[in-house]
Amino acid sequence: MYQFGALEGAMREKDMLWEIADYLKGHPNAAVVNLGCGLNMTGRTADNGTCRIYNLDFPDVIKSRNELIPAGEREENIACDLNDFSWMDQIDAGEGAVLYAAGVFHYFTTQQIKDMVIAMAGRFPGGRLVFDAVGKFGRDKLMKGTLKNMGMNDISGLFYVNDASELEGWSPKVKLMTKKSYMQGYYKLDDPNIKGIHRFLAKFCDNLAKMYVYQMEFTT
Ligand SMILES: C[S@@+](CC[C@H](N)C(=O)[O-])C[C@H]1O[C@@H](n2cnc3c(N)ncnc32)[C@H](O)[C@@H]1O
Repeated sequence: MYQFGALEGAMREKDMLWEIADYLKGHPNAAVVNLGCGLNMTGRTADNGTCRIYNLDFPDVIKSRNELIPAGEREENIACDLNDFSWMDQIDAGEGAVLYAAGVFHYFTTQQIKDMVIAMAGRFPGGRLVFDAVGKFGRDKLMKGTLKNMGMNDISGLFYVNDASELEGWSPKVKLMTKKSYMQGYYKLDDPNIKGIHRFLAKFCDNLAKMYVYQMEFTT
């Protein structure tokens, strides 16, 4: 299971990279905004040489990040609470913005996500948001232990998506474009070296845990 967890994290990373590269094709100078970055290096891996990279997380995480991975050229580490939307003022999105949250929205309530998405749509017209989410079963059975370990005992209001229609109608400026399976939506698991148990777990994650990557566009 631990090995599968690591592979899952790697697939999520590849999914995000696919989405960023796709957006940068049409907006080479865009802001690439990592929401809840941790020590993740996605922005640098996705760097096309002209985009601007922003890594956002809580102040203690950014402090460690600055020590371990100081910001490079065209890169900024921003200490913030994502629920305080003043971080949006620090993003130069004049030439577009692709914002992504990998393994982050599970820690927010549905209302917090809705408020943040509506605010982002207002601030970043023409932008793209990419995030992963689990369904209710995934939240209650798979995520519960992790959330409890982080002191989040009441998980009842935390964000999950059982059906993509739950993400629609939030704002006329927000359009849900794609919903792709986390493990198999972007890349086929057809390499013969992938173990049978991992293929089985990938199907389980898609069908029961409803682990998906969602892509939204913000209208201009
Ligand atoms: C599971 S980690 C994922 C890290 C990274 N995205 C990755 O894929 O490796 C979740 C991250 O979200 C950050 N986070 C959670 N809630 C946040 C908030 N309200 N504001 C800023 N960062 C937050 C945490 O500090 C943590 O670094």
